[in-house]
Amino acid sequence: MRSHLCGRVDETLDGGEVALCGWVDRSRDLGGLIFIGLRDHAGVVQVVIEPENTAAFKIAESLRNEFCVRIVGKVRMRPEDQWNEDMATGRIEVLADTVEVLNAAAPLPLLMNDEDGEEVRLKYRYLDLRRGRMQRNLRLRAALNSAIRRNLEAREFIDLETPILTRATPEGARDYLVPSRVNAGRFYALPQSPQIFKQLLMMSGMDRYYQIARCFRDEDLRADRQPEFTQLDMEMAFVAEADVQDAAEGLIREVFAEVLGVALDDPFPRMSWFDAMRRFGSDKPDLRIPLELVDVDELVAGVEFKVFSGPASEPGSRVAALKVPGGAELSRKQIDDYAAFAGRYGARGLAWMKVNDAGGGADGVQSPIAKFLDENTINALVESTEAAPGDLILFGAGPSPAVAAFMGALRVRIGHDRGLVEPGWKPLWVVDFPMFEFDEADQRYYALHHPFTAPAVAGGEALRADPPQALSRAYDMVLNGAEIGGGSIRIHDPELQQAAFDVLGIDAAEARARFGFLLEALKYGCPPHGGIAFGIDRIAALMAGEDSIREVIAFPKTTTAGCPLTAAPSTIGASALAELHIQVSASADKDEDSGG
Ligand code: AMO
Ligand code: AMP
Repeated sequence: MRSHLCGRVDETLDGGEVALCGWVDRSRDLGGLIFIGLRDHAGVVQVVIEPENTAAFKIAESLRNEFCVRIVGKVRMRPEDQWNEDMATGRIEVLADTVEVLNAAAPLPLLMNDEDGEEVRLKYRYLDLRRGRMQRNLRLRAALNSAIRRNLEAREFIDLETPILTRATPEGARDYLVPSRVNAGRFYALPQSPQIFKQLLMMSGMDRYYQIARCFRDEDLRADRQPEFTQLDMEMAFVAEADVQDAAEGLIREVFAEVLGVALDDPFPRMSWFDAMRRFGSDKPDLRIPLELVDVDELVAGVEFKVFSGPASEPGSRVAALKVPGGAELSRKQIDDYAAFAGRYGARGLAWMKVNDAGGGADGVQSPIAKFLDENTINALVESTEAAPGDLILFGAGPSPAVAAFMGALRVRIGHDRGLVEPGWKPLWVVDFPMFEFDEADQRYYALHHPFTAPAVAGGEALRADPPQALSRAYDMVLNGAEIGGGSIRIHDPELQQAAFDVLGIDAAEARARFGFLLEALKYGCPPHGGIAFGIDRIAALMAGEDSIREVIAFPKTTTAGCPLTAAPSTIGASALAELHIQVSASADKDEDSGG
């Protein structure tokens, strides 16, 4: 039907005939002449229809945006003063001989630009995806997948598929469940990741596995979280941390070079989880922001001001300072806004100090807490943050996790607000995670990664003896403040696996019931192994410069896990439910009736 792509018609074709197919991007009737912007996935080309060509002109007059058309015509140079150097096709235009409507378009339900709301964009996603931005995003994602496959296959990774209808896989979210018709009252779980299967594949001698795998997690959605998302999942046999990290880092470096032409650091820097939390208040620090938290516990442990001295002297609590360069210019209102923002992350208050004269004691600063502090302490605080006149210091005090959360969030917010985010790419390995975190509410330990992650301790006895002190052999890859991947060396010894389950409160009987097949498999010559999984959606979004992974997924879900296009999830008829041995409770029915 076509001889060329719209976006690839250029001056080398001057004088030649082309047949083009695409959509009307815009049309302008300039009295005598009609100009059409004809678009396909490659770009837009200008088509001119002259009134002398009465048949074509008549059709051209009827065209509206998104009509699907075929145009045959001659390429000619535009007059030089009409060149549009922003367009690949900007020096030429196509003089139409024939215009054929392949399919008309009804009046459009959306504007087809960035002003459309998300709901309407997702409902008419097939139209939304025609736009240049979305074409670029999905094609970039395809290029990413293709580069990943090439690279991994060159490294002798093999692509293997694992089940979608399976048992629960413990990645910490709720499961999506699928009822079994032939096994009344039983359910499959959709995989939260292929974790257990890829470990079994290592026990099967597959040596190096990868899969671009769909994962399903029923959790609260955010800009960087979807209920179904895509992992690049990898596993390797006979490896230690450095082997997996080298392979993963080499892959990411090569993929960025191929897809974006970007050279990432070689090697990526490494930082312990502990340092990341202390210095940046985050386990995925954005190193493009040149601000750091400073511990001031020692300086304020003895002061009268209980808000500081309490946390400064309690284990598990801290007082952290954040210098905001030039921040003394901020108004009370702006500082109050930051305090309210910090409050959403668990801050009870946000003390601050504007520095006028470093070393000038109480007279050298402006601060609501100056009256609670002595001269030496004020000077020491200013000195410890290296604050200069004109700077602002913010202070967070309280339990360490809360202080990390709100001071870390402030650091990122202020970095953006004040234009401090440096351009470029800042990759990082975060390593030496604690094995477990203790949940005060549930009074039990949770695995920071998953329960199959190997501890960096001698054995099961040591693990049981002091769980909070145990570090794990896990690692996360962070890029520009996003966690793009995470993995670990796995436990390959059944005793150690049971010790990890014990700490997590999974006793031998429950372990047998839930993971018996894995524990059994560990008994038969399991090789040491480890791996990692990357969030493809997150990497694609970073590469595309998009804030939300929804912009790099063809058919994403809304934040309430719905699909406006297909109206999924939907109700199911009584007979289909009966066949699945399922009864829907009255309250769910009522929600449905009220349009919920
Ligand atoms: P983890 O749970 O850290 O590890 O997931 C790996 C990576 O997947 C991405 N990711 C998500 N992306 C979009 N939406 C979500 N809901 C979502 N959840 C996770 C993140 C994350 O870094 N089995 C282990 C990996 C392993 O140990 O090898 C796992 O799934 O980028
Ligand atoms: P208060 O004694 O509650 O009036 O607080 C005195 C000052 O300390 C105010 O500026 C508060 O914003 C600040 N403040 C209170 N609690 C905290 C906290 N947990 N971390 C940092 N600053 C705090």
